[in-house]
Amino acid sequence: ASSSRVSLTVNGTRRTVTVDNRTSLLDLLREHFGLTGTKKGCDAGACGACTVLVDDRRVNGCLTLAVRLDGAQVTTIEGLAPGDDGPLHPLQQAFVDQDAFQCGYCTPGQIMSGVGCIKEGHTGSPEEIREWMSGNICRCGCYVKIVKAIQQAGS
Ligand code: FES
Repeated sequence: ASSSRVSLTVNGTRRTVTVDNRTSLLDLLREHFGLTGTKKGCDAGACGACTVLVDDRRVNGCLTLAVRLDGAQVTTIEGLAPGDDGPLHPLQQAFVDQDAFQCGYCTPGQIMSGVGCIKEGHTGSPEEIREWMSGNICRCGCYVKIVKAIQQAGS
């Protein structure tokens, strides 16, 4: 078959869809679910703009086939804070406090990757954070402030 039925949980909500087998998780989120917070940069695994968490692990949405995610738990930038009017997630707040973005296009991916970096315990030093965040490119060059934000939220 060229399409498959997939049931997965996205930001706490169970979703079932029929998708073309070639559909990436990134396109599933953006085109099928309208969750456009996750960004498409290169669509080839090189920039990290599409980073989301699958079962609490960081993945590039553009490299992940949606049909492989039956039963998975996916968290996107939209699902990070508890509610629309509630407090921000600590790392979102840290990005605001540290002024860790300019154009903002890479920010959702940076934040989701940063959450993974913190969960994995790779926040011992700025150098360690840089290494474990090396898959996330920022064309504006906000790296120093991004590292500071991750240090703030991870401490
Ligand atoms: Fe997925 Fe660039 S859009 S890594």
